[in-house]
Amino acid sequence: MDLSSAIKTRRSIRRFKPNNVPEEIVMGVLDLARWAPSAHNAQPWRCIVIRNESVKKKLAEAMGKAWFYDMLRDGVPEEKAQQIIRLESWERITGSPIVIIICLTMKDMHKYPDKRRQAAEYLMGVQSVAAYIQTLLLAAHYHGLGACWVCAPLFCRSTVKKALKLPKDLDPQAMIVMGYPDENPEPPFRKSLEEICSFKR
Ligand SMILES: Cc1cc2nc3c(=O)[nH]c(=O)nc-3n(C[C@H](O)[C@H](O)[C@H](O)COP(=O)(O)O)c2cc1C
Repeated sequence: MDLSSAIKTRRSIRRFKPNNVPEEIVMGVLDLARWAPSAHNAQPWRCIVIRNESVKKKLAEAMGKAWFYDMLRDGVPEEKAQQIIRLESWERITGSPIVIIICLTMKDMHKYPDKRRQAAEYLMGVQSVAAYIQTLLLAAHYHGLGACWVCAPLFCRSTVKKALKLPKDLDPQAMIVMGYPDENPEPPFRKSLEEICSFKR
């Protein structure tokens, strides 16, 4: 697979075959992903790879509960909220062969005494983690796996930390669900170059 087709044919995959993914394939994906660029080359990403069914269920239960109460606070009827949780949280997490929680650690990033620069530094950490995630998605595609970036952990960071007993410095940023694809989605619409780029010639 050349780089251009890897970039263009990667899709967000949300349905997976139940087949087991060999350990060496998972390690191959993780090994490639760590070549992502990062601010100060601090590599401020950490990932928790979950293949154990009971850990997935524990995480799904905790995240589902957090989302459920958020929806009730938004005025979503209880039954509707339960249905959304079942389809978009529980089944997505427990139905994915591999779930990876991606965290940011600021441990090796610079420390500033003022809020302005510290906020910029934090943002650089977040940007670095995003670069890592995109690299991971491409690496998964290269290895024949499908994957999808899921933002849910961002909305319940302390819940995820507690459910997985994560060290204090790990800040959950995203979840990647991964496995052999059981769907072949059409490429979603992309904005034209004219819409997104301007040129000062
Ligand atoms: C920051 C971020 C958060 C995302 N969160 C979700 C999500 O929570 N659930 C989901 O199904 N897809 C999520 N996606 C995937 C996008 O929906 C997907 O990338 C987009 O529709 C384009 O499709 P493609 O990846 O197949 O090109 C997310 C993507 C990004 C970059």
